[in-house]
Amino acid sequence: MSESEPKHRILLIITGGIAAYKCLELIRRARDRGIAVRCVMTKAAQQFVTPLSVGALTNDRVFTDLFDLNDEREIGHIRLSREAGLVVVAPASADFLAKMAGGHADDLASSVLLATDKPVLVAPAMNSRMWAHPATVRNVATLTEDGISFIGPGVGEMAESGEAGAGRMSEPHDILDAIQEMLEGPVQGPLQGLRFLITAGPTHEPIDPVRYIANRSSGQQGYAIATAAARLGADVTLVSGPTGLAAPDGVETIQVEAASDMLAAVEASLPADIAVFTAAVADWRVDGSAEQKIKKDRKGTPQLKLVENADILATVSQLPGAERPQLVIGFAAETEHVIKHATAKLARKSCDWIVANDVSPATGIMGGAHNEVHLIKDGGSVDDWPRMAKDEVADRLVREAGEYALAHRT
Ligand code: CTP
Repeated sequence: MSESEPKHRILLIITGGIAAYKCLELIRRARDRGIAVRCVMTKAAQQFVTPLSVGALTNDRVFTDLFDLNDEREIGHIRLSREAGLVVVAPASADFLAKMAGGHADDLASSVLLATDKPVLVAPAMNSRMWAHPATVRNVATLTEDGISFIGPGVGEMAESGEAGAGRMSEPHDILDAIQEMLEGPVQGPLQGLRFLITAGPTHEPIDPVRYIANRSSGQQGYAIATAAARLGADVTLVSGPTGLAAPDGVETIQVEAASDMLAAVEASLPADIAVFTAAVADWRVDGSAEQKIKKDRKGTPQLKLVENADILATVSQLPGAERPQLVIGFAAETEHVIKHATAKLARKSCDWIVANDVSPATGIMGGAHNEVHLIKDGGSVDDWPRMAKDEVADRLVREAGEYALAHRT
């Protein structure tokens, strides 16, 4: 980017929170996209990152104090956002949201926001309990009504406690996509024109109308993949077992219960360019589940006869010619000999790539916010990815799959 002519200018307000360190990456990546950043930091923000490091990246003075500006010899707080197309607050702490909602103006950051006539985007970051607190919910509703836009927070592990929940600041690339969209209108994603079909979650196999066999899959990884693909511009259908997760924005989501419904929904949703099977499909169903609730007073304990479910991944992988998605990706949840078992699974199910992970309880992966995977390709290559948040795994997988499909398009 030429320093003299950035495509856009934004004013970034950094408030106090551990996520403040992510702003350094946000600034760097913004500049890569031709967006010049000027920063205002609150006092609390300076406990987490220094104005010196922020200034080194913005290549500009960092503004911290209201009283520095009061004589208006330099640049008044009213004028601070004038050159910017957008004001971004990232991370926005619970306290700062409360100040914004209350219309306070007792420091530079809050005064700038009260004085600006520019659109404002807020990326909250806080402990999940603070995010869920009625006071914060009320403040967010007030700010939304005032026309303020929000990005996130995402679900993930909290820095301070290791607890998972909503409150994690959105990743810099997501914040930048939102910034760009607000400045330029909807962005054409790099995966425009590609169709993804994704399965996620557990399946519920009925025993009778009120009981079922299930597993511990949370569906998070599949939902994160659907979200990432849609965000990058792909056309996405998600076939989901029961999870309790909200349908991702911009994704056609089909809710199913049993494996047989999942297979039917997948077949009805074809064709697709890329199919990703993350669902923990039950291997067995109860043969002839009861039409009525099984009563305890009948003689003896019920004997459940299990029969094998169809393998959805193998069925789709083995479709003939043009009916088969160009790239079929399976997941292998293993508890031992991860690479060996996953490689055998890839061959057995005839898929192209398999994402292997160790789901032993000690890893905390099943139901947790993080994943540590190995991407195995049918040529035999094994790529070990570091432990990452599930949405980062999703973003990387979707980008790699999309690039492959676009490069090998017939
Ligand atoms: N899968 C599927 N349909 C099934 C079973 C599994 O589509 N009936 C898919 C999963 O979505 C995943 C891959 O197959 O992408 C591997 O699932 P996994 O449960 O690890 O494998 P299984 O075939 O069940 O093998 P095993 O239980 O012996 O490990």
